[in-house]
Amino acid sequence: MRRILEEARNFAASDAPMLIVGETGTGKNLLAQAIHNAGPRRKCPFCEINCGGISETLQESELFGHRKGAYTGADSDREGVLQTARGGTLFLNEIGDISLSAQKRLLDVVEYRKYRKLGDDKEIETDVRIIAATNVDIEGLRQKGAFRDDFYFRLACLKVELPPLRKRREDVPTLVDRFLEEFSELEKKPAAGVEPDAMGELVEYDWPGNVRQLRFVVWHALLQAKGGKIAREHVLKATGLDEARKDAQNLEPLEEVEKKYILKALTVTNWNKSRTAQILKLSRPALDRKIQAYNLARR
Ligand SMILES: Nc1ncnc2c1ncn2[C@@H]1O[C@H](COP(=O)(O)OP(=O)(O)O)[C@@H](O)[C@H]1O
Ligand SMILES: [Mg+2]
Repeated sequence: MRRILEEARNFAASDAPMLIVGETGTGKNLLAQAIHNAGPRRKCPFCEINCGGISETLQESELFGHRKGAYTGADSDREGVLQTARGGTLFLNEIGDISLSAQKRLLDVVEYRKYRKLGDDKEIETDVRIIAATNVDIEGLRQKGAFRDDFYFRLACLKVELPPLRKRREDVPTLVDRFLEEFSELEKKPAAGVEPDAMGELVEYDWPGNVRQLRFVVWHALLQAKGGKIAREHVLKATGLDEARKDAQNLEPLEEVEKKYILKALTVTNWNKSRTAQILKLSRPALDRKIQAYNLARR
């Protein structure tokens, strides 16, 4: 993570658009904010717009603003976030969900620093730095024609990839210390460290939710820990691994499952073997072999 931050710091002074790629919870928001804070725009706003889950009209209206009556429901003038973020940074989150038409307009903003509100002819000058983030593969969207090449190449010129936590496990102990400090302060509960086997579980875990998940697991574990010392059982509980492992122990051998299933089918058909074979998509001789192998008998 330090190496990535070092590299990203070189981009902070630039006005070039930037793209942050990484799974959910890897720190994309955090990095975007850090880049803003480290650059010359830090005294001006950092505005985020989430392109996911909002309609194409709303995307454009939020970005560029609109004049009253520009579309149904636009019942007053509205300032876009491009205006609000003037002088600062515009963070386009979930950029993979942005419409093609908004991409075209944003490309013009990057190239000419000008745009128009929806339903308005007047050109407005703007000055923002664009940082975009995504957890989907934009390269793939581009090949499908769902993302403009020209906009992609502008964005991807400065590209930072945040690796998933399971690919940088050496970061886990540092992050754990950091979050323990945070939550022991919040909970007014002194932390007394992490047992080695508990740390072992934390390092080994797969972290589908990445750093965000680790943060909550540390919190959960601290709340359980008597005397503030985090033990292995607290970690297993907080990650849900205890349940998963219990389930794994309860799993039966496949043969056992097959045996029960065949018996069930035979019972349902009242031991009509032809019918059972048909249901199970087995040949009659194959069914007979299994009945023999599993020693199945009619009760
Ligand atoms: N390197 C890091 N150091 C400390 N906290 C981090 C780090 N990376 C992520 N976090 C924390 O993890 C959580 C998720 O980060 P966030 O930037 O929202 O991820 P994303 O936007 O990729 O989903 C936040 O609480 C953030 O503060
Ligand atoms: Mg985020």
